[in-house]
Amino acid sequence: MIHIAPSILSADLLHLEEEVRAVAENGADFIHVDVMDGHFVPNLTFGPNMVRALKRIVQLPLDVHLMISNPDFYIGRYAEAGANLLTIHQETCPHLHRTVQMIHQAGMKAGVALNPATPLVTVEEILPDLDLLLIMSVNPGFGGQSFIPTSLKKIARARALIEAVGRDIFLEVDGGISPDTAPTVVAQGADVLVAGNAIFGQPDPVKALRALRAAAETREV
Ligand code: DX5
Ligand code: ZN
Repeated sequence: MIHIAPSILSADLLHLEEEVRAVAENGADFIHVDVMDGHFVPNLTFGPNMVRALKRIVQLPLDVHLMISNPDFYIGRYAEAGANLLTIHQETCPHLHRTVQMIHQAGMKAGVALNPATPLVTVEEILPDLDLLLIMSVNPGFGGQSFIPTSLKKIARARALIEAVGRDIFLEVDGGISPDTAPTVVAQGADVLVAGNAIFGQPDPVKALRALRAAAETREV
């Protein structure tokens, strides 16, 4: 089953409640929240207060993607705010095993994200402890960028590693997902697709979400 995670990064912040409710009631599986600190990535976005506010209006799991340095300091605050899945970047965590344990101890599912240039081997040892592996198919920081084609082989290799672990671990792909790129990404083994521009960047986000799901479920290469 393919999970679609609309990213509020591309939503109209002045109509956020309306836009999030619309996708939540019409087929979204997670709501993806991009947290940026202006340090690890060259952009600033939301914090725990946004997660807390979203929690009041949707039942869907909140998939919080931390693009921040020193994520350990904030794990408790995102748990308290209501994050269900907390994904940190491998590049920000020298003690990744400890950070993943902290996320679990705080009662959330744990994900690890890899930038396009970060090799998969850097998460091979931690994979059995994860609930989600996020392959970035753009350099993190902005919505609306083009999908990096070399990500495809990485997604396929990540799927093989997950199969070897032998338990359910989501394989999420984030960046440049659209009805054009989704079928190939799914064919390589992704099962969670994050989409900002392809959903909230469109005049009718619900229609765009349905189009993305239809494309993703064709599984054409
Ligand atoms: C990028 C973020 C993405 C972003 C994707 O740094 O992690 O979640 O919202 O945007 P699109 O789908 O527009 O590439
Ligand atoms: Zn993201």
